[in-house]
Amino acid sequence: MMRSLLPLGAVLLGATAVLAAPPSCSLTQKCPEDSPCCSQYGQCGVGAYCLGGCDPRMSFGLDSCVPAPVCESKTYSMANTDGFMSINDYLGDPKTADWVYQGEVANYTDGVILTMPAHSVGTVAASTTYMWYGNVKAKLRTSRGAGVVTAFILFGDVKDEIDYEFVGTELDVAQTNYYFQGIPNYDNSANISLSNTYANFHEYEIQWTPDEIRWLVDGQLGRTKKRSETWNATANQWAFPQTPSRVQLSIWPAGADTNAKGTIDWAGGPIDWDSQDIKDYGYYFATFGEITIECYNAKSGPGTNNGVSYYFNDASATNNTVIDSKKPTVLKSFQGSGTDMDAGAPSGTAVPTADTVPGGTGQAPGQVPGGGTTSSDTSSSGSSSSGGSSSGDGSSSGSTSGCDASSFTQSNCGGSSSSSTNKSDGVRGAERMLGASAVAVVIGFAGLLLL
Ligand SMILES: *[C@@H]1O[C@H](CO)[C@@H](O)[C@H](O)[C@H]1NC(C)=O
Ligand SMILES: *[C@@H]1O[C@H](CO)[C@@H](O)[C@H](O)[C@H]1NC(C)=O
Ligand SMILES: *[C@@H]1O[C@H](CO)[C@@H](O)[C@H](O)[C@H]1NC(C)=O
Ligand SMILES: *[C@@H]1O[C@H](CO)[C@@H](O)[C@H](O)[C@H]1NC(C)=O
Ligand SMILES: *[C@@H]1O[C@H](CO)[C@@H](O)[C@H](O)[C@H]1NC(C)=O
Repeated sequence: MMRSLLPLGAVLLGATAVLAAPPSCSLTQKCPEDSPCCSQYGQCGVGAYCLGGCDPRMSFGLDSCVPAPVCESKTYSMANTDGFMSINDYLGDPKTADWVYQGEVANYTDGVILTMPAHSVGTVAASTTYMWYGNVKAKLRTSRGAGVVTAFILFGDVKDEIDYEFVGTELDVAQTNYYFQGIPNYDNSANISLSNTYANFHEYEIQWTPDEIRWLVDGQLGRTKKRSETWNATANQWAFPQTPSRVQLSIWPAGADTNAKGTIDWAGGPIDWDSQDIKDYGYYFATFGEITIECYNAKSGPGTNNGVSYYFNDASATNNTVIDSKKPTVLKSFQGSGTDMDAGAPSGTAVPTADTVPGGTGQAPGQVPGGGTTSSDTSSSGSSSSGGSSSGDGSSSGSTSGCDASSFTQSNCGGSSSSSTNKSDGVRGAERMLGASAVAVVIGFAGLLLL
């Protein structure tokens, strides 16, 4: 299901010239040794590619990805954006940030908002720790409008996924869904009815154990899915989410015209980049209030969090192949990977800055408002539609991520400034560009999305 990323790579390349086209990766095409990590979006690289979202099954080796920080029970007030760090600045230490993001986040009176300026790909934020079973709840207000999707999901590096998704034309419905290892299945979606999700904060909760998933809205049980209902006789296993997952919050343009028709239809139609919200605020936005993660806290076996990090010891990536270990999670620089975590260590006291992030400065796509880009064939599945899952393509691409839709350079936004830039590893631009959409979209098949 992973679609080829070549078109995208080509786009990037053309746009930035300095970046080498990142190799793409899938279950059948693992990354090469010199760019060993397969990112969430199906592209090979080092540094950030080896952190959150790195899929060990598609990477050069199972140990190419950096081990994932274990679950931490914690309440995030979302009083402001202080716990948020750009993915271009994060090296894997969850003590330095609660959330990493791509796109734009902002303070609001009653929460943190994730924004989607006109013609951007929106914003995605992911927790820096991984939950391996447990409960997570978020108070949020969705965005609104045709083609605008807000999401609150659990997403694992091997693409196990549990979702709440909100379509901007259906403000009285929370769509729920789940996926096992990213395998598309359009029959797993179910709806929960509620009052206006744009006007009101509701509390959305996912209770996840080895035996069942429960979705609760405002404390009321809305849906239950038991593992026992998910046996796949062909694969001879449970098609049930079972591996450590990050909490992901996002807003993304499912109705962008670069997306597959099925995705656009599912999202309520083409997005209006000249809507009232765009006129009034300069962007579509979703508001996130308090979020609480409660770890499952198993004493042994699946669902523990007594070590430092999780990694997989087998490519089957089922819950008995997750090791709760003492391995470190922090890279010394953006040149590192799971097998060489000290690579590129700055000598002296220099601290890596955004510009040392591979590709960090070359956000090509961003330079084109509207993004253009996009890749081709999404087709993939448009299907999703029904499922809510979207699929597809999120590739959209565009931009946003920087501080404003038309400029993507790091320095403009983050403050960091330097100029070094090591072009050699460029890949990250691509990731960033896909980011929001992909992740969000992810929604289901991360792979497809990607184009
Ligand atoms: C939000 O407010 C906090 C606290 O005042 C501040 O540190 C942070 O920079 C603000 N975030 C943005 C994106 O302006
Ligand atoms: C969920 O609601 C949406 C819109 O209200 C609808 O299009 C979709 O078919 C519903 N899904 C299910 C599984 O009932
Ligand atoms: C069952 O597993 C097979 C093999 O992995 C897969 O192709 C198929 O899509 C799965 N069926 C469902 C309903 O998930
Ligand atoms: C996860 O592990 C537990 C305990 O070993 C087991 O009972 C359960 O079936 C596993 N869950 C899945 C979905 O494989
Ligand atoms: C760029 O990469 C090379 C080779 O890895 C390294 O020697 C050099 O210090 C890097 N430059 C910067 C600015 O990071």
